Amino acid sequence: MTYMTFENGADFQEELVVIDDPAAGLSGVIAIHSTTLGPAAGGCRVWHYDGTADLARDAVRLARGMSYKNALAGLPLGGGKAVLRRPPGEFDRVALFHAFGEAVARLNGRYVTAEDVGTSVADMKLVRERTRHAAGLDALPGRAGGDPSPWTALGVFEAMQAAVGMRFGRGLRGMTVAVQGVGNVGAALCRLLHAEGARLIVADTDARRVARLVEELGAESCGVDEIAVAPAQVFAPCALGGVLNDRTIPLLQAKLICGAANNQLATDEDGAALMRRGITYAPDYVVNAGGIINVSAEYLGETGEQVRTRVGLIAARLISVLREAEDSGSPTNRVADALAARIIADALPGAGTSAAAARAVAPPVRPPLVFAPATG
Ligand code: NAI
Repeated sequence: MTYMTFENGADFQEELVVIDDPAAGLSGVIAIHSTTLGPAAGGCRVWHYDGTADLARDAVRLARGMSYKNALAGLPLGGGKAVLRRPPGEFDRVALFHAFGEAVARLNGRYVTAEDVGTSVADMKLVRERTRHAAGLDALPGRAGGDPSPWTALGVFEAMQAAVGMRFGRGLRGMTVAVQGVGNVGAALCRLLHAEGARLIVADTDARRVARLVEELGAESCGVDEIAVAPAQVFAPCALGGVLNDRTIPLLQAKLICGAANNQLATDEDGAALMRRGITYAPDYVVNAGGIINVSAEYLGETGEQVRTRVGLIAARLISVLREAEDSGSPTNRVADALAARIIADALPGAGTSAAAARAVAPPVRPPLVFAPATG
């Protein structure tokens, strides 16, 4: 197996590991943004990429997002992400995920993996055959684990409840919530909202999923191209990233955005655009942390009660972000990023010094692209 590490001066803090094993169909990177708070934790994405630069850029951005999400969720974890190029056509998943597991094992616990887009519980079981630094598997008796989606939905629901209280001065009963994507998280969120007396507008590319919720909850269905701008007070993106962009933002009718999808803002500047329109944006990684809380509890050998306690803190954390944004006149996404960076900075050696804070926000410049064959 060819296995190389390199560091460069791009937007990441600690390490970018290039993993390459042509015989197993493995090609990609593991980005380790930060291990200050604990092992760098973040899922393994398998996707189509044209070039290595695109793939690496995605990994670095996603790894930083995981650092911030884990820090704000109060987890003893840093942030990382694996991004692998999807081999063309049918491929040997056993060979690929065994080889990936070996690459993770060589990092000796600096990186902990789990499922993400393009990977499943079955894939993580294969990884686990090569390293113990993999989570997202079935729960052991008396321990946390299993499907994280219900926890993600619960965290989003409680955060939405709190934000509705702050923004509208009322509860969810009688409010209209537009939910984009009613898969694992979206459907669970709809059930919680329905039980609370909210009205639902739902859209999904999978018509059967919509039909089920129309039947079960009396939800109203909506076209996938209209859901973002549907007449609702709250919009909950629970499908894709990038849905808040220069096309949708001017047309949004909702005054509050709170949903599970990762990377909802197409660009960081879209947070400011939402603020200018008077729309409250609940930063995605603040409210969708229930999943990683459950996955991390599995890795750390914690119980379901510990997961419930941590998920229960999401709403209060969101409210402190929204209050700080209001007080400072800054977009909520910037406030959340700054808060997360501060938590990491406070844990760095020499915490409290301006150098430590600067290191957390702007990583030190590394020498340009030094390849070195891995040892051990
Ligand atoms: P899922 O795959 O079960 O559901 C996504 C749903 O979105 C599917 O029903 C799909 O048909 C639908 N969809 C796809 N494209 C669409 C479009 N253009 N318009 C409307 N619907 C569309 O995924 P899951 O697990 O429910 O996750 C939803 C989002 O939340 C994803 O962005 C995921 O990254 C994020 N997330 C999920 C967590 C979890 O615990 N599952 C944790 C944190 C974030």
